[in-house]
Amino acid sequence: MDPLGRKIDYLRIAITDRCNLRCQYCMPEEGVKSLSQQRILRYEELIKVVQVGARLGIKKVRLTGGDPLVRKGVVNFVQMLNKIEGIEEISLTTNGLLLEEKGQGLLEAGLDRVNISLDTLEQGKFREITKIGGFKQVWAGIEKALELELAPIKINMVLMKGINDDEVFDFINLTREYPLHVRFIEFMPIGGKRSEQEEKYLSIAELKRKIKEREKLLPSKFVIGNGPANYYRVAGASGTIGFISPISNHFCTSCNRIRLTATGYLRPCLCSDDEINLKELIRNNSNQERLMERFLEAVTYKPKQHHLGEETSLVKHMSQIGG
Ligand code: 5AD
Ligand code: SF4
Repeated sequence: MDPLGRKIDYLRIAITDRCNLRCQYCMPEEGVKSLSQQRILRYEELIKVVQVGARLGIKKVRLTGGDPLVRKGVVNFVQMLNKIEGIEEISLTTNGLLLEEKGQGLLEAGLDRVNISLDTLEQGKFREITKIGGFKQVWAGIEKALELELAPIKINMVLMKGINDDEVFDFINLTREYPLHVRFIEFMPIGGKRSEQEEKYLSIAELKRKIKEREKLLPSKFVIGNGPANYYRVAGASGTIGFISPISNHFCTSCNRIRLTATGYLRPCLCSDDEINLKELIRNNSNQERLMERFLEAVTYKPKQHHLGEETSLVKHMSQIGG
């Protein structure tokens, strides 16, 4: 529990800062220099962090990045996580490029489900947004996830005015065709240029108004998950539509999470650059009690709420924090 009574049972681990895409909102234009192997935590070190977390009440773990599937040995790591007592759910968030290849192994290793980041359904636009491309490969990854039932499968779509807001109804149609849960996410000013971010921002309220002109949104009882989305569905759909509004209507009062960066720092809040160094303790062979103390200390630093959208952008980029 944090000092405000929020129960923190969900740990998001950025297992790498590397990615096989270069999405404009996630990485700086000039690119980030990849961390050397030495600077990121080894899998055995990550396991130590999760063991400590599990003793303190962490029940759910999500692997993020960069893209978690580009790190070698990820399948084996999921298997290691699966053996930790107290961890009830293992999921990951990926761009989907390597999902077709690794899905089967991940499932067998004990992965419960996946979230896939996908901001457009148009090949050309996908290349523009990601700077690299590979839409067909991502789609093959989504099909693989459906086939393996790594479900509920969520699609994260970051709303960008003038870029992909014209595709909202196509994404809604996906929920008619497939049991996919599409989540529309407000663009957050994290890293990057502020003016550009303001230009692209579209609020969930505005989006809902636009949707309601053409679709009837029915309430959905969909609850599986750890997060802040409100879910709806359209008639006849097997999937759902979720709305995530970190800027216009923050959900910090029900925050249940803490993050571990690729460099081994606990980050109490996505939207604050305050971090607690765990790597140092781990590399100095500190005992579990000492790690537990530091973990608890990090939880006490969770702010009541964030102030994104009001003042500062963050120094770090999303690719270093894991979203
Ligand atoms: N604003 C909103 N969402 C973002 N994500 C990454 N960067 C941003 C941003 N600036 C989303 C990605 C990913 C999830 C973890 O966070 O789409 O799916
Ligand atoms: Fe939790 Fe910070 Fe996100 Fe608010 S902004 S929901 S406190 S992580």
